[in-house]
Amino acid sequence: MSTNQVIPLSRPDISDDDIRAVTDVLRSGRLSLGPSMEAFEEQMAARVGRSEGVAVSSGTAGLHLLLEALDVGPGDEVITPAFSFVASANCIEHAGAKPVFVDCDPTTLNVRVEDVEAKITERTKAIIGVEVFGNPTGMRELAALSAKYEIPLIEDACEGLGGRLGNDAIGTFGRAAVFAFYPNKQITTGEGGMIVTDDTRLADACRSMRNHGRTISNRAVTGAVGTRLDAERLGWNYRMSELHAALGVSQLSRLDTIMEHRARVADTYTRELSSMSDLIVPTIDPNVTMSWFVYVVRLSGPYTTEDRDEIIEGLRRHDIGAAHYFPAIPTFPHFRDKYGIRAGDFPVAESVSQRTIALPMFVGLTEVEIKLVCQTLGLMMTRNRFRHDD
Ligand SMILES: Cc1ncc(COP(=O)(O)O)c(C=O)c1O
Repeated sequence: MSTNQVIPLSRPDISDDDIRAVTDVLRSGRLSLGPSMEAFEEQMAARVGRSEGVAVSSGTAGLHLLLEALDVGPGDEVITPAFSFVASANCIEHAGAKPVFVDCDPTTLNVRVEDVEAKITERTKAIIGVEVFGNPTGMRELAALSAKYEIPLIEDACEGLGGRLGNDAIGTFGRAAVFAFYPNKQITTGEGGMIVTDDTRLADACRSMRNHGRTISNRAVTGAVGTRLDAERLGWNYRMSELHAALGVSQLSRLDTIMEHRARVADTYTRELSSMSDLIVPTIDPNVTMSWFVYVVRLSGPYTTEDRDEIIEGLRRHDIGAAHYFPAIPTFPHFRDKYGIRAGDFPVAESVSQRTIALPMFVGLTEVEIKLVCQTLGLMMTRNRFRHDD
């Protein structure tokens, strides 16, 4: 994350109440496995509309635990998007299974259900569905596919907290979903993640495994203070501390306000940039209530990847945070070499990933600043064209 730019790519929204919530925990003497974690779990589950919340140390930890709890392991395949943040695939490797990548739709940037169906084999043990940049379009179709083949859908909802598709909240489409709270997310705990589900057994397995596989002796205390020292399975230390959880509770109470601010930023970008030639702005289905995570535009027309990188550099030189979200996951060398992936195997994800520019998105970004970002982007694009037309 860029923090020293005048207009950074992202900036957490930290209030005095947030600071008080964390210092109260420090004064309490109870720093882990306590009431803040339980409150955050309950409030997150309630917000999404699920019965169980399991707080963990990161979104990746949550995804990994779910795969382990669903008994995914060596010999299994898990279908996952080629266009996403790398953690969506890393967790499959951590579980010892094979990620089976699916290309994305050029408009929504999410996977298409027919492409997912085409990759199902007798080894498919789970499907990871991602709301890319927080867009839930296509999740209902993925849920129906998961039901048809009786293959569990894990929702990697790390980018979409608060978003909806019609009346359905992000986090309610899969057997379980995972949210993440890195500082660029809609709400942050510094680091952290949350599993939500209606499946109590699955939640309990995750509660045990996040805490070294220790036995849960009393569910009334959500497996936190109630875990015993004996272990019933292999586990990890994926716990969320009380400090992180208290920050999460405080941040969650402002989610609607945060979403409104971010939506205003996105609307202003769309208004300013829609008419710019050679630029594709996000297309959002009218059925979708976006919880904006990032605002990502794409270059069209004559621009190459090098041009895109030069434009990003130009923005940064002007003290504006910008980034390339995301490289297509199968093009990373460890995946490419291990699975014999060739350039062109995921043509849409590869092409999109060569053309994206993420622009600053955070609460407090002013209209004047947004206009400055847009003008500078336009200037950098024009400069780039002139240089190449010479
Ligand atoms: C789609 C997606 N999946 C998973 C993660 C992983 O979350 P974390 O960084 O908390 O492990 C992220 C976080 O950026 C993400 O965007």
